Parts: sequence; structure tokens; C-alpha cells
Amino acid sequence: MSSSASANAAELALRRQHQILDHLRGESHPEINPKTTISHIAIYGAGIMGSGIVQVAAQSGYQVTLWDVTQANIDSGIHAIRTSLSKIARKTGQPADWVQSILTRISSTTDQLAACASADLVIEAVVENLSIKQDLLSHLDTVAKPTCIFATNTSSLLVADVAAKLNDERRQRTVALHFFNPVAVMKLVEIAYMDGTDPALLALLKAWVLDIGKVPVLCRDTPGFIVNRLLVPYNIEARQLVERGDATIEDVDTAMKLGAGYPMGPFELMDMTGLDTGYHIMKAWYGAAPGLAKDPRFKPSPEMEQMISSGYLGRKSGRGYYVYD
Ligand SMILES: NC(=O)c1ccc[n+]([C@@H]2O[C@H](COP(=O)([O-])OP(=O)(O)OC[C@H]3O[C@@H](n4cnc5c(N)ncnc54)[C@H](O)[C@@H]3O)[C@@H](O)[C@H]2O)c1
Repeated sequence: MSSSASANAAELALRRQHQILDHLRGESHPEINPKTTISHIAIYGAGIMGSGIVQVAAQSGYQVTLWDVTQANIDSGIHAIRTSLSKIARKTGQPADWVQSILTRISSTTDQLAACASADLVIEAVVENLSIKQDLLSHLDTVAKPTCIFATNTSSLLVADVAAKLNDERRQRTVALHFFNPVAVMKLVEIAYMDGTDPALLALLKAWVLDIGKVPVLCRDTPGFIVNRLLVPYNIEARQLVERGDATIEDVDTAMKLGAGYPMGPFELMDMTGLDTGYHIMKAWYGAAPGLAKDPRFKPSPEMEQMISSGYLGRKSGRGYYVYD
């Protein structure tokens, strides 16, 4: 492409982005009832994030089908959902059948295609690995309804890359719906869109996010969207302070809680998100992310590699920077 043609393409893309934001800025779209378009949701991955998304969607009245590789993973996801709902029921004084009434909206299967055959919205929350996500979505594309919306909960990858193996029509109906951990508690959902995304689709998804009790923000398809683009370098700086011997883990956490007013310190946060998730983000960015590849900040340190290979993944494995019961 000549330099003037690429400048024109960049200008067009920018104008399109401004049109999307102008269309959506400040509008709450009260006329959109997401339940008329989205009634059945298929969620792939019963881990920390997948089970949380299943819970909030079912709590908000949606029929949800949960898929995972094994029945044992599904059982552990459903167990986490039941435990979280029971806690909420106790705290908010719900009637005795409240938990069960929500669980009846959740079905599950290990049959990948059956899970999404009648879905209006598919959300993938499987392991942060590009080829696994691409293969999963392109497999689902063979049976999903043409109107079905595809969403990825990726923390670090580009939506364009996750959607790379989809046909054009489906790619235009693919976005990121990026939830935060723990999903039942955290209010934010980042909606990341590509240049060709229809503003009407974004308006619908904004309405859906509000309907499940969350707050949407929009972001162009860029590595880490908003939160992780800011948070990952902050976590890296915290780790380097400790690896250089400048301060202890406990003192860094205390400093950021009491000095910066953060609800938890960076090491507590990394333990909660999972060290493997942070590691995959850094590797993906160091390897190929536009504008970030080969940036030495994102090269996982030997200390981090050692923790991952020892299985110190944070809360989920019982040990990370801290030890958990
Ligand atoms: N943990 C967080 O704080 C957080 C926050 C936002 C987004 N995310 C993103 O959400 C996604 C899931 O993360 P998580 O923390 O729930 O991870 P997790 O390890 O708890 O769950 C991952 C799930 O992927 C499934 N899986 C593993 N290998 C698979 C394969 N080959 N094919 C299909 N499924 C497979 C596992 O069975 C598991 O259910 C990732 O993309 C992650 O980056 C994580």
C-alpha cells in the first residue's frame, strides 16, 4: 500500500471510530430491551471467569449453557456458583428457593457444538491461548445461528486475532466482553470493538451489560483494552522492586493500600487474578502485540517463570506470593 493510501485508510478508520463513539457517547439506550434479542447465552470455560459470568447472567434472568472440557471442571464451576449465590442469599435475605431458582436457568454439557446451537450470545472464557480460542470459535461458527454474537473474555489478545478464523459476517458480530475478577462483585465490563463493528451491536451489548447489573465502557481493539494496559505495567514495576531487593512484598502491598488508597496491593491482586494469567499476557505482548512486541518490560523474569513452573499460581493453587488455606 502506498503511504498516501495507508494515510487515507488510517483516517477512515479514525473517522469511523469517532462515529461509533459519537453515536454511543452518553446514550443509555432505554429503548433497547436486550432480552428481546438475547435470551440464551452459551459460555465456554467453567474456570474462575466463566463460572462468574454464568452466575451473573443467570441471576439476571438469562438461560445459560455452560461448556467445559470435562464434567469435573463443570461440576467445580457449578459448585463455585452455588457457593457464591448462597453467600449473596444469606447477606441479602433472599427466600429459601432463590439459589435453586437461579440454578435452574443453568444447563451444562461437554458437547461443544450442542452448547451453542440455539445461543444468541456466545462468550468464551477458556484458557488465554490464541490458537485454542481461535479453534474453539471457528468450530462453533459452523453451527451457531447467523445472528449469534460471539464475544471473547480475553485479557491480552486482540479481538481481531481471536476472530481471525471466522467468516466475515461472524467477525463483524465478534467483540470482547471483558469481565473482571471476581465477576459477581466487580462492576466493570469493557466492550472492545473492531473498526467494522456495527454501532447498533455495541448499543445492544451496552444495554445487555447494564441489564446484568454491570457498567460498560467502550474501547477500541487494542492490547489489554483499558484496565490491563495500565495495570500490567504497574504489576511489573511492583515485581521488579521486589526482585531488585528494594522492598518486600508485604511492604509494597501495604504501601499501595495505605499510600495510594488501592483496595489491595499489587501482589495480593496478582495472586487473585492468577499468576499464569499475568504470565500469558506478558508472553503474548512481548511476542507479538502491536506497539508492545519485544518491549523488554514485558519479558517474563526468571523468578516469574520459576513460580509458574512450580505451580505457584496464586489463590487458585493455594500458593502464589502468599500462602492460602
Ligand atoms: N483471572 C482473571 O482475573 C481474568 C480476568 C479477566 C479475563 N480473564 C480471561 O478469562 C479467560 C479465562 O481465565 P480464567 O482466569 O477463568 O482461567 P481458568 O484457568 O480459571 O479457566 C480456564 C478454563 O479453560 C478451560 N480449558 C483449558 N484448556 C482448554 C482447552 N484446550 N480447550 C478449551 N478449554 C480449555 C479450563 O477447563 C478452564 O475451565 C482467559 O482468557 C483470561 O485471560 C481472566
